[in-house]
Amino acid sequence: MKDIKLYPVGKIESPITTPLEAPRQGQEAHIQGKIIINPEYVKAIKGLRPGDYIWVLCWFHLAKRDVLEVYPRMARERGLTGVFTSRSHSRPNPIGLELVKILKIEKNTIWVEGLDAVNGTPVLDIKLFFPQIDCPRNR
Ligand SMILES: C[S@@+](CC[C@H](N)C(=O)[O-])C[C@H]1O[C@@H](n2cnc3c(N)ncnc32)[C@H](O)[C@@H]1O
Repeated sequence: MKDIKLYPVGKIESPITTPLEAPRQGQEAHIQGKIIINPEYVKAIKGLRPGDYIWVLCWFHLAKRDVLEVYPRMARERGLTGVFTSRSHSRPNPIGLELVKILKIEKNTIWVEGLDAVNGTPVLDIKLFFPQIDCPRNR
């Protein structure tokens, strides 16, 4: 398979306007924003509720795609390491993984807390967080 076509299901509305002003991980700053779901995908959010945690897979549209090695944030002294060992936004397929808490849902808008993505970041998918699946220690 050479190419894969992805269609955004929505976009992030966030007070973060540039990558430089974003927290490295959303959990570090409790930034609130919205996920606006495109009308044709609204049925897909049926059942989500305030208080749920969701994984938001987004497309870091401003990221570099030619980066294969990065300096780990917490341990620069270790030197360069492969990008797949990191959570860097710059990578061959710049997919971001945001774990956010739902605050409110109205029609096609989900208010969330815990974002590190800039305003306008396309959303590719949303998955409900299940501790028994997503946390190996709970298995
Ligand atoms: C280190 S990444 C971590 C992202 C996600 N939580 C993850 O683990 O996949 C977060 C950084 O991505 C950058 N960023 C946010 N939105 C972006 C976008 N649309 N395009 C490029 N970079 C972005 C910001 O610099 C932010 O600090």
